[in-house]
Amino acid sequence: MAAGIDDIAIYIPRLYIDATDFAEARGLDPVKLQKGLGVSQMAIVDANQDPACLAANACLRIMQKNKLSPEDIGRLYVSTESAFDESKAMNSYVIGMLEQVYGQGAFEHCGGIETKFACVSGSYALYDNTNWIRADEADGKSALVVVSDIAKYDMGSSGEMTQGAGAVVMLLNENPRLMEFDPKVTSTSIKDEYDFYRPFGKETPIVHGQYSNLLYMIQVRKALDAYKKKAISTGLIKIEPGETILDHMDYINMHLPYSNMGKKALAYMVRHEWRQLPRWKTILQEIGLDEPVPQDPRGTIESVLSDADFMAKDHEFTKLFSKTPEFQEVYESKLASSLIASSMIGNLYTASLYLGFRSSLEFEYQKGIDLEGKRIGFGSYGSGASAMVFSGVIQPEYKEIVKDMNLEAEIGNRKRLTWEEYEKLHENKVDIAESMVHTKKEFVLIDVKTETESKGERRYVFNE
Ligand code: COA
Repeated sequence: MAAGIDDIAIYIPRLYIDATDFAEARGLDPVKLQKGLGVSQMAIVDANQDPACLAANACLRIMQKNKLSPEDIGRLYVSTESAFDESKAMNSYVIGMLEQVYGQGAFEHCGGIETKFACVSGSYALYDNTNWIRADEADGKSALVVVSDIAKYDMGSSGEMTQGAGAVVMLLNENPRLMEFDPKVTSTSIKDEYDFYRPFGKETPIVHGQYSNLLYMIQVRKALDAYKKKAISTGLIKIEPGETILDHMDYINMHLPYSNMGKKALAYMVRHEWRQLPRWKTILQEIGLDEPVPQDPRGTIESVLSDADFMAKDHEFTKLFSKTPEFQEVYESKLASSLIASSMIGNLYTASLYLGFRSSLEFEYQKGIDLEGKRIGFGSYGSGASAMVFSGVIQPEYKEIVKDMNLEAEIGNRKRLTWEEYEKLHENKVDIAESMVHTKKEFVLIDVKTETESKGERRYVFNE
């Protein structure tokens, strides 16, 4: 049985910090954020928002848009790495909010859990729910997979310039109008790592940024190798001599902790794939340098990162490689559109990959490109660390969905925070009752209990 994404909706908080204001306050060159990282604005949650209400707002949007009733939904999964409870799953809060609109008990039949594996858990949730449908267990119902996160880093840390917040929800069913997942090719890699983690009770993560970037690329490359084997052995893709698996993906969506990381990861994967092909000779001639090799043949991440000579040469090589017309063509045609939303919104952790997918659909459609039948490859990564590579094909009815996509309209009017406002919000010094924007028809947090017996209980309302 077929299964895939029928529709997709987003909810992005209305507050943002502009990259120029951020750079000025932190004494940085704004070009580092805008061009070096691809960060123009970072969405910031208001005092009365948490990842659960971002998720519920996204779910309400997709349900209203598709005129769905709770009976149409068999499963609701929430994937996040911004959990605020060690036991109560975030989807129970989301169900509670949705039932304020649809009536108490309206989702009682609906199963689901919260999933966690840093930024990759949404991809596992999509895969598991796709298989629930493929196994003919869905009884005609759809699944909602919502990925929701607040990417918040320590004040003054290097991660602070890669923050963001928001939720993306995907409606899955057996007749998807948007994209059908390719069967039997989804591939993973996994390793015990400490590149990025958030110990119990800590609001912000401990991040080894450069280590994490390299690990991300290595793990995705391993998952891509596994995907390639499966794609060939199942007959999904036939690779002719001189071709690579990437030639058979019309679009590539990468996990985006910041917009430019997509380009870096693409360059890494393309290098890995092209190195084996006759075309690599031409590329090396164009670059005018041999591809650098680390001094330590073990090639561990630590040894690579501490090899300053190799790192400098490799950086130079990557820069020159990224400028070759051959790579530029791949970048512009397969990836660039997916990066636009990320630069306007920032890091959404679990939701970053899917915001990128949403972005590529809207901006490729705007170019007048016919997307029907195009294969989309996904490179998902979660620190700690696991990667997943999978693919899907855009369906004939996709225009019904994509024609109405309008990122700016869906975000709504935004408020540019002053530095003082940003600092107060970051330090949790704004009371829930003193939120900076007053939204209508949205779920907001109104209370988090502090008494011993009810500590941590959260109350939400739907603002009429
Ligand atoms: N003008 C233009 N570009 C500039 C610049 C300037 N003045 N200064 C720096 N840059 C470029 C750098 O060359 C670099 O580009 P490159 O990646 O192509 O080499 C980029 O801006 C970033 O600069 P860098 O010095 O590498 O930044 P940093 O070490 O201060 O921090 C991160 C960057 C991404 C490592 C850091 O923000 C971070 O840790 N973020 C969190 C990432 C994360 O969440 N990872 C986990 C999940 S995958």
